[in-house]
Amino acid sequence: MNAVDVIRAKRDKGALSDEQIDWVIDAYTRGVVADEQMSALAMAILLNGMTPGEISRWTSAMIASGERLDLSGVPRPTVDKHSTGGVGDKITLPLTPLVAACGAAVPQLSGRGLGHTGGTLDKLETIAGWRAKISNEEFRQQLATTGAVICAAGDELAPADRKLYALRDVTGTVEAIPLIASSIMSKKIAEGTSALVLDVKVGSGAFMKELATARELARTMVGLGTAHGVKTIALLTDMDTPLGLKIGNALEVEESLEVLAGGGPADVVELTLALAREMLAAAGIDADPEAALKDGRAMDAWRTMIAAQGGDPDAPLAQAPIVEEIRAESSGVLTTLDAYQVGVAAWRLGAGRARKEDPVSASAGIVLHRKPGEQVRAGDVLMELRAEDESRLAGARQSLAGAWEIGSAGQARDLILERVEA
Ligand code: URA
Repeated sequence: MNAVDVIRAKRDKGALSDEQIDWVIDAYTRGVVADEQMSALAMAILLNGMTPGEISRWTSAMIASGERLDLSGVPRPTVDKHSTGGVGDKITLPLTPLVAACGAAVPQLSGRGLGHTGGTLDKLETIAGWRAKISNEEFRQQLATTGAVICAAGDELAPADRKLYALRDVTGTVEAIPLIASSIMSKKIAEGTSALVLDVKVGSGAFMKELATARELARTMVGLGTAHGVKTIALLTDMDTPLGLKIGNALEVEESLEVLAGGGPADVVELTLALAREMLAAAGIDADPEAALKDGRAMDAWRTMIAAQGGDPDAPLAQAPIVEEIRAESSGVLTTLDAYQVGVAAWRLGAGRARKEDPVSASAGIVLHRKPGEQVRAGDVLMELRAEDESRLAGARQSLAGAWEIGSAGQARDLILERVEA
């Protein structure tokens, strides 16, 4: 085998053989295929696509590049959730302990934020003492006892994907459905879960801006999970406007705690419960997640989960010293509030990072006072910008230019758009 023949085959719109796929992924992981060769192949895949058979084999090869966790010793049904990422999407935080409180084990291997979307680990690291990195043995133990673990994926999980994703990020090849689907699913299948619920975001703040492409991504991922023996379903959900009222690391922990205490914004509660119901059904558990939110069982599971990784669930969360209010210039109904622009503004305030090695601010972010569909009067506060220093405000204000509209009538929008199953 040689890399140039594999690149040529895809460049000329051919289908790669199983042997070519196995070889190229393995050789790339070992450094035998060079970055520039893999870049060319990734671009050929982006332009010419892959058959379902190729995507499935590509995913298997990425799983085989590292370890596959064995969770068969965990005495509860395992079920996980993955979101393709959005602005204010903190759902993993209340959802994981909620589903654990209902009897499942949730093995949630998460990542950090990059660009305008936040990362679950960055959010949890705002809790004093909490550790993202735990050993495989601690992971299995905590899963068996608490039923809820959110932690960093180890270096041995799908290492081919880690290398390839970093390369795609700098070569304009992230937006290829075969590569996104195989990247996400290789990690989720390698993590060892028996069932998986995908939250595929659609809209300005999401990877997928259009319903048709989000649907194609969802169908591809559901097909991959099913083919690899993982019961997989997907919900397509709206990401044209931020989820909830708080965007930023500690702010999203704060809002998650409101949900776990039985309150919180209606959209966050709706999506948390919808995903919890799907996860419990996929795990074969008959339980009422709404009751577990209301009676405090989910909050108890959160406290146990946080404490198990060294976190102090009672420690106060960081508060930003700089708070600037943004007010409405006219009266009417808030008709739009653009998720992408709000996400970029929160990022510029310090909540996100531009490069993997950058630090993030715990307290920076945005608190929304109004959401689309709500009435506003001129002079009302629309949102608060929060930052650790004043110099961050100008960039955030700039990215919010034209981010909302105040009109005469709001249009009701659905949060959950479609459901995809095998
Ligand atoms: N998230 C991933 O893990 N991989 C992708 O390719 C895109 C989003």
